[in-house]
Amino acid sequence: MDITLLAIESSCDDTSAAIIRNGIILSNSIANQTVHEEYGGVVPELASRSHQQNIVPVVDKAIKDAGISKQDITAIAYTRGPGLLGSLLVGASFAKGFALAHQCKMIEVNHLHAHVLANFIQTPTYTPPLPTFPFLCLLVSGGHTQIIIAKDFTDMEIIGTTIDDAAGEAFDKCAKIIGLPYPGGPHVDAHAQKGNDAAFSFNKPKIADLNYSFSGLKTSVLYFLRDQVKKNEHFIEENIDDICASLQTTIIDILVDKLHKAVTQTGITEIVIGGGVAANSGLRNRITEEGKKHNWTTHIPKRKYTTDNAAMIAVAGYYKYLNHEFANQSTTPRARYALSDYFKKTN
Ligand code: KG4
Ligand code: ZN
Repeated sequence: MDITLLAIESSCDDTSAAIIRNGIILSNSIANQTVHEEYGGVVPELASRSHQQNIVPVVDKAIKDAGISKQDITAIAYTRGPGLLGSLLVGASFAKGFALAHQCKMIEVNHLHAHVLANFIQTPTYTPPLPTFPFLCLLVSGGHTQIIIAKDFTDMEIIGTTIDDAAGEAFDKCAKIIGLPYPGGPHVDAHAQKGNDAAFSFNKPKIADLNYSFSGLKTSVLYFLRDQVKKNEHFIEENIDDICASLQTTIIDILVDKLHKAVTQTGITEIVIGGGVAANSGLRNRITEEGKKHNWTTHIPKRKYTTDNAAMIAVAGYYKYLNHEFANQSTTPRARYALSDYFKKTN
């Protein structure tokens, strides 16, 4: 019998729905929220209201694009956390209503688990070389920066994490200081491609173990630009490409240094990246180069599967379905949801 899941992602400011059948993604529909741009960051109340408006049309589109009917759906997977509670509640409530109405199973997915499994997304026309276990995942998003050992589809352990800002936050906060729109990551990326990455140097943190810190970089950028603008008020406009290239390279150096350390500590050379910052051109190129230089096998998801999407929730949901791990009507969303709590049930 076919296993057909509907998956919902609503943890932050993207409403997305996907259909997966027997492990193959048939559709992935996304509504991005532009309402936050003028506020320079995601406004939780507005995000949750937009999810309420978007969720039914986004699910309808996913079902139509997949060429299936609602009656074909075996189970519904949804993001339980981590994320904005008001946003998560919309996806979770929709999933509960759908499961009741259609008498189908529910699967709760941890958003970070899904970002890792984005590397396993396959469609009828696209099959990437799949990672083999165990692998290391550098998970870099707007809310998280972690190095994870994946031992199996549903067995993962965090071995390094940020002690303050995430890499995506570093991109976004520094972009704001530079005067770029929100979210700043893609804008920094675009300018960086035209700039000299050795033009300026910013402080790198000295943090023990495999942990990260990005809050010092933000301060370093702030003070550097403040001093330069005092001398030349047009400094930022005149040097924006070089500033962005230098900033981006510093973030990538920090990320890759710890990844090297993780490879040395674990002996694992199967390397995967995931999360919104994995869309960054500089990071993608650097991971590929490091892989060639150090004999790593590297896996980089398509750009559209690095930022938030329901296809990755569908893949995680599919493997939990195969393990018979189901949620129920009393499963509540979790704004904070550590992978260690999430995998405890299966380990
Ligand atoms: O994974 P994601 O879509 O949402 C979270 O789970 O947080 O990641 C969003 C983050 C934002 O910080 C955004 O600026 C960053 O990913 N991002 C990028 C790029 N595209 C998105 N950062 C650097 N370069 C990019 N091309
Ligand atoms: Zn995400």
